[in-house]
Amino acid sequence: VPLHLPWIDAIRALKRERGALVLAHTYQSPEIFHGVADITGDSLALAQAAADCDSDLIVLCGVHFMAESAKILAPHRTVLIPDREAGCSLASSITAADVRALRARHPGAPVVSYVNTSAEVKAESDACCTSANAVQVVESMGADKVIFLPDNYLGQWVAGRTRVELVLWHGTCEVHEQFTAQQARHTRERFGAVVLAHPECGPGVLAEADFVGSTSGMTRWLERERPARVALVTECSMADNLRVRFPETEFIKPCNLCPHMQKITLPKIFDCLRDLENEIVIAPDVAARARAALERMLAVGR
Ligand code: 13P
Ligand code: SF4
Repeated sequence: VPLHLPWIDAIRALKRERGALVLAHTYQSPEIFHGVADITGDSLALAQAAADCDSDLIVLCGVHFMAESAKILAPHRTVLIPDREAGCSLASSITAADVRALRARHPGAPVVSYVNTSAEVKAESDACCTSANAVQVVESMGADKVIFLPDNYLGQWVAGRTRVELVLWHGTCEVHEQFTAQQARHTRERFGAVVLAHPECGPGVLAEADFVGSTSGMTRWLERERPARVALVTECSMADNLRVRFPETEFIKPCNLCPHMQKITLPKIFDCLRDLENEIVIAPDVAARARAALERMLAVGR
């Protein structure tokens, strides 16, 4: 921590000077999450905060699709990302052309895309969803068959909870797919921990979990249940960040870090604020269509 302090002080001063707001995803490292973020949350909460805040300059500490979502919902604000190479294996698994090909193969079937997608893919979609509202959004389409992309595991999980037939894509999260059912079981048996898992994990892990939910869903569950010991089967910065908020809970960590989230560092946040570099720019027609898909989701509810 002492190593981080000069950076944290410098970023806070520069933030004030620029009138900038720093938004950070729950998977950002603790020195960012606790040290420099003004607002923290899941990807959708951050995008909504970008739209609702009163700052015209936003630095989004998270991956590229999250910064795009912020720009889509706050088109008149400047959105910067400290490293534009911070990607996501789900977002990069599918292109707008792939979505058009899926539509051609399944005429009439609406497309629901997880928020972990590029602006171009959102623009080709009828609605977006998060892991928290995926079932409701799928059912709100009023169709017997829905194209659901790009996360195959989230898709399988949703398919098990609805009568709507889902056409799935082959995307996976390179972080969550690494957790195993055996790890989850071991954590419960050896440490007596309740197991909460993100639905980007494989079906074997989800079958072992006591609760399955998005990052915000898991946080709400902790607020409600206040367990003595918990294992969060998700990117492990989240446990580091929540420890402060739940001091009475012991976090057992099966640990996988997201290499893309880790690309965001304090020095890069400082540079980005100083030089006003790495601005997110989205073609206006793409942004408008992507916004319609996000708004259709927001009308269904979070
Ligand atoms: P949440 O939308 O649950 O925050 O998840 C984002 C993500 O990238 C999960 O890996
Ligand atoms: Fe993408 Fe997985 Fe990283 Fe989330 S944890 S940003 S889904 S690669």
